[in-house]
Amino acid sequence: MSPILVVGATGHVGSQIVAQLSDKGVPVRAMTRKPGAARLPAQVELVHGDLTLPETLEPALNGVDTLFLVWTAPPAAFPQFLERVARTARRIVYLSAPLKTPHPFFQQPNASRVVAEQIERSIEASGTEWTFLRPGIFACNAMQWWGQQFRAGDLVRWPFLDVPTAPIDPRDIAAIGVRTLCENGHAGAEYVLTGSEPLTHRDQISIIGSVLGRSLRIEEMTPDQARQELANIMPWGMTPPSVIAGVIEKLLSAWGAADGLPAFVSTTFNEITGSKPRTFHQWASDHAETFLA
Ligand SMILES: NC(=O)c1ccc[n+]([C@@H]2O[C@H](COP(=O)([O-])OP(=O)(O)OC[C@H]3O[C@@H](n4cnc5c(N)ncnc54)[C@H](OP(=O)(O)O)[C@@H]3O)[C@@H](O)[C@H]2O)c1
Repeated sequence: MSPILVVGATGHVGSQIVAQLSDKGVPVRAMTRKPGAARLPAQVELVHGDLTLPETLEPALNGVDTLFLVWTAPPAAFPQFLERVARTARRIVYLSAPLKTPHPFFQQPNASRVVAEQIERSIEASGTEWTFLRPGIFACNAMQWWGQQFRAGDLVRWPFLDVPTAPIDPRDIAAIGVRTLCENGHAGAEYVLTGSEPLTHRDQISIIGSVLGRSLRIEEMTPDQARQELANIMPWGMTPPSVIAGVIEKLLSAWGAADGLPAFVSTTFNEITGSKPRTFHQWASDHAETFLA
């Protein structure tokens, strides 16, 4: 059996796909630009590859039949990548977003949405069997959104505190991904995945506070304050300022559109697995240490 290739293997969802496939004894090939920094199970075949440098991809793509695809690289590199993938691969599972879900939260125009739509159209036209995973907001966004403020003290400032979403644990997205990679019967499926509980930002911050035993002050900031402050109170690494501004604008427009509306909650996880997705409290409890690290 040729290994399942995971592109995006070190990320939030890809690392869970790798871990869960490995737990099942399925051979996995994990692609990354930095094999030396990847912390993945020892039995995983770790392969260097950079999606923006096609000449680096052959060791990863050689003989691949099935792949899990996370695409956060520049879109210009996608057509050549897909053309090479489609020469050998039979099945692609692509981590997309709820692009077709008629809730205003998911329907605001933005650049990453355009990229995901183009990727989907190209995969559909490639002749390869495909499944699209369409998760809503990830529970682990909390780490990027609020970790720095939790580490700095007991004040957490955030916009749209009372807008509800139903965050999903990346482990649950991966559980569905692993089924679609390993089982037949998911070709052409588009799985919209959320957690099962609508929670406002205020709820989520409070849950993390209670898990950490912290008494917090939670303060609403206006969208304009968010435009000015979120670039500084979140870790962005080497992300260029223009990209940071775009991400902040994308979030503000989604939250603004959802203000006053109930959260969209999907039952797909339950229908596929027969069990409920993990709660946000579970995610927070399992990540309490890393939250403060
Ligand atoms: N966050 C949310 O709430 C949310 C909701 C719905 C959908 N999504 C979608 O989920 C996706 C992100 O998933 P994620 O959070 O699991 O990803 P992530 O944690 O941001 O990780 C990105 C992965 O892509 C790899 N990568 C990036 N550029 C690369 C390149 N040039 N060559 C090779 N590998 C590259 C990285 O690998 P190395 O750095 O190791 O090379 C890393 O494994 C996005 O498409 C986003 O639109 C997110």
